[in-house]
Amino acid sequence: MRKTLLTGDRPTGQLHVGHYVGSLKNRVMMQESGDYDCFILLADVQALTDNFQTPQKVRESIFEVALDYLAVGLDPNRTTICIQSLIPALPELTIYFLNLVTVARLERNPTVKTEIAQKGFEKSVPAGFLCYPVSQAADILFCKADVVPVGVDQLPMIEQTREIVRSFNNYYGDVFNEPEGLIPENDIEQRLPGITGNDTKMSKSLGNAIYLADDEQTLRAKIRQMYTDPQHLRVEDPGNIEGNTVFTYLDVFASDKGEVSRLKEHYQQGGLGDVKVKDYLFEVMNAHFKPIRERRSEFQKDPGYVMDILKSGTEKANEVASLTLAEVRKAMKIDYF
Ligand code: TRP
Repeated sequence: MRKTLLTGDRPTGQLHVGHYVGSLKNRVMMQESGDYDCFILLADVQALTDNFQTPQKVRESIFEVALDYLAVGLDPNRTTICIQSLIPALPELTIYFLNLVTVARLERNPTVKTEIAQKGFEKSVPAGFLCYPVSQAADILFCKADVVPVGVDQLPMIEQTREIVRSFNNYYGDVFNEPEGLIPENDIEQRLPGITGNDTKMSKSLGNAIYLADDEQTLRAKIRQMYTDPQHLRVEDPGNIEGNTVFTYLDVFASDKGEVSRLKEHYQQGGLGDVKVKDYLFEVMNAHFKPIRERRSEFQKDPGYVMDILKSGTEKANEVASLTLAEVRKAMKIDYF
């Protein structure tokens, strides 16, 4: 039997090349494999748990992220792209699942803990935020996903989902199977650094990101600003490639590995300037992202078409969700009529 795959993103801004190497590329590959029924959820309800004061940002990001999906080659005929807030089964499942989770367990979730600290929620955590892992379990279970491709930071969510499944099945009978998290193999690809240096992950809040939507000049300018070896002051000086973001990116994006090793050697010996290496990285990245950028702007010209894709994806998700919900209600003995 075909497996079901579900993953999701919080729509809080455009997607960047870190998202691309860390997850989007892999999603397209899994779609192309033909082995899965694929669902991708635009998790606007979850985005609102920590952006409830800025709903306009979330709303606009729905469209922007949808453009990013389509640009990288997610195909609405093979991948169902849907909007979380328009699937009423999700909050309904969440309410039932909340009985199966203790507050103490929610407070122990390591990812939630980190986020609480980052967002300064220590003194008073909004209840909606604390409970989002339960709502994420509903995201995963409405379509009975078997696999959930995510970054390592999301593994605690999968673990909580699996606990909910065990508890649910224990009280009400076997309805759900335990989903598996699927982590990309290559570690570097999970945390492509931002342009300001190798020790910080690319993220929109840090202002160190290269977006899929960035045009050629912006891409060139961002690469020109990229952190290299601060000791490499003169072209003649030997340079360091460890911790040198430009070389980290070349390792990820350049297909000509021979050329990359030649550049590395030359740089380490001295006599190769940063600008030369950066210009090569620009060529490499531009060749890679140009078709994506062009597809993105084509879709951008036709917002009606993009919204129709989201609408029909959401309709399909609702059909699937209602089947699951019927089973859940029956199992929980609340199927009165
Ligand atoms: N929590 C995920 C993130 O921050 C987004 C998400 C929401 C998700 N629902 C999901 C991921 C369901 C996987 C499955 O990136």
